[in-house]
Amino acid sequence: MSEIHGIDSTRVPKHVAMIMDGNGRWAKEKGQDRIFGHFNGVKAVRASLKAARRAGVKYLTLYAFSTENWNRPKEEVEALMDLLVQTIVQEVKELDNNDVRLNAIGDLESLPGSCHAELQTAIDQTKDNDGIELILALSYSARWELVRAVQNIVKDNISPDAVSEELIGSYLCTHSIPDPELVIRTSGEHRVSNFLLWQIAYSELYFTAKYWPDFREEDFFDALRDYQSRERRFGKTAEQITQTGNE
Ligand code: IPE
Ligand code: IPE
Ligand code: MG
Repeated sequence: MSEIHGIDSTRVPKHVAMIMDGNGRWAKEKGQDRIFGHFNGVKAVRASLKAARRAGVKYLTLYAFSTENWNRPKEEVEALMDLLVQTIVQEVKELDNNDVRLNAIGDLESLPGSCHAELQTAIDQTKDNDGIELILALSYSARWELVRAVQNIVKDNISPDAVSEELIGSYLCTHSIPDPELVIRTSGEHRVSNFLLWQIAYSELYFTAKYWPDFREEDFFDALRDYQSRERRFGKTAEQITQTGNE
């Protein structure tokens, strides 16, 4: 068995999705502004991407801004959008050098113009890379995504008989991306906050008390080791799984 950091390389999840939470509380504990927490969250993004690449994960989705996050104070929303543009501009070369393909899901049209434009430029610039796909969920929520999917299914005059799980999947933002086997949420909150509701039907959920700005490579590997210790049964019995192998 080939291993890095005690992780079995033959059973690494293809897709890991992360709910990056706790920036505000991290900053508050340090007597700082919430925005200081968001700035320091960028280090955890780099660390997670690096760990995912090293482990052989093929898709990494980061929940960066939810539909509901638009309801935060105006200054915080503006700071988050500025940080997004700044980070994309700053990191795109590094992403490209590391064979990372950038993608984004969500209501991208609702982002400020400069943000949307920089994002699109970075997506275009990295489109031929195939080391790992980094997917940013921006102005994203699963209910928004499902409502949009149903609207488009109706617009396309799809007959009820043609509606299947595959068809619904093909109308989601994630149509070209496999479902995540593992979802990680930081900050000690045990909820999914409107993230990928359709796609996480059988995902393993991993929660850590660490605030997002403190999350590092070793924390990512901890989550992978925990994932590999679980038995994924998909509705079957444990006996059936041991007979057929657990993946
Ligand atoms: C996550 O940290 C970042 C976003 C949701 C944009 P929070 O800003 O939610 O931090 P807490 O949960 O208030 O500590
Ligand atoms: C979830 O975090 C959204 C993102 C990480 C972008 P929130 O902080 O918005 O979630 P709730 O409000 O605690 O559920
Ligand atoms: Mg939060």
